[in-house]
Amino acid sequence: MRVEGVHRRTITLSDDGWAVDIIDQTQLPWQLRVRRVDSLAAAAHAIRDMQVRGAPLIGALAAYGVCLALRVDASSAALERACAELAATRPTAINLGWALARMRAAVQAVGEVGGGGDGPARVAAAYACAAAICEDDVATCQAIGQHGAAIFEATWRAVGRNRPLRVLTHCNAGWLATVDHGTALAPVYLAHDRGLPLHVWVDETRPRNQGMLTAWELGQHGVPHTVVADNAGGHLLQRGQVDLVIVGTDRTCANGDVCNKIGTYLKALAARDAGVPFYVALPHSTIDWTMASGAEVPIEERSGRELREVVGRGDGGVMTHVTVVPEASAVANPAFDVTPARLITGLITERGVCEATESGLAGLYPERART
Ligand code: MRU
Repeated sequence: MRVEGVHRRTITLSDDGWAVDIIDQTQLPWQLRVRRVDSLAAAAHAIRDMQVRGAPLIGALAAYGVCLALRVDASSAALERACAELAATRPTAINLGWALARMRAAVQAVGEVGGGGDGPARVAAAYACAAAICEDDVATCQAIGQHGAAIFEATWRAVGRNRPLRVLTHCNAGWLATVDHGTALAPVYLAHDRGLPLHVWVDETRPRNQGMLTAWELGQHGVPHTVVADNAGGHLLQRGQVDLVIVGTDRTCANGDVCNKIGTYLKALAARDAGVPFYVALPHSTIDWTMASGAEVPIEERSGRELREVVGRGDGGVMTHVTVVPEASAVANPAFDVTPARLITGLITERGVCEATESGLAGLYPERART
């Protein structure tokens, strides 16, 4: 991803080679602030407070959180404590559990401290695994971009090629949500770079306004876009101003149901009513093969403060919190919802595109299909 013309990733090792540098997303789109994460506690805090967010990136930082914990104590007991602390930060994105399981296996393969393995070897194995998780994410997102861009090109041909392709997206499933490229936005960037004219409708995505992250990213890459209120999507779809919808997912169930940022389901319903294709882009790491359907997905309930207050840049460029909900009113803040597979036109993965069904997923991932 380009930022001010320079290519960078969302998570990198610091100059010292052991801490990690992240982009503090709570400061975007107002300022690009890089933060150093140098302990397990700092990694858990960055995920919980959403300095780092987006399913794949949460998994990547959690992996480095394990590395940082093992630098202090490389025993299996410490490994389990670190995994438990990181797993408790955010419940919905399955990549977190996926990354922690991979880390646990890589470290345990070295052997217990004093029992065949040694501390430095376990720490080295952890760093190698965290780096591999990041590289896997980059390659996966690039492949999703290829498959998704082919759909964009086909849709553009189908609508007559005489105007830009009009895409609608919800939340941020872009570069900032992954290590690089994004999932839902990877096809946008690739199609744009190949010269396909397109325009993106960006849902603001209340209450945390992740749409502003999407708008910032698209702006950095030079992709034409327009931010709309969440409630505008149905109208745009109904009036024929959207050619396709594409979103990411935090957990994809074995039957093809997807759990994504709150409000995704309403977009899928409106897209179905308007006859507009609704695609979900996902890496293998968001598939939860153990979960039969979306009804079982744990939905994160976040602080009511996110709803009561709007955060923005006030006079003098200072970040300001403004209260918008009457103090006496109760608030509820479910952060995700489930879009049933029947509303999804196709799942775009790194291995290709499939139907949002158990057999569709099994066709792409025969080695993981449920028995
Ligand atoms: O609460 P967030 O901002 O972490 O939610 C992120 C999303 O819902 C994304 O769409 C999802 O993680 C897919 S990102 C590739």
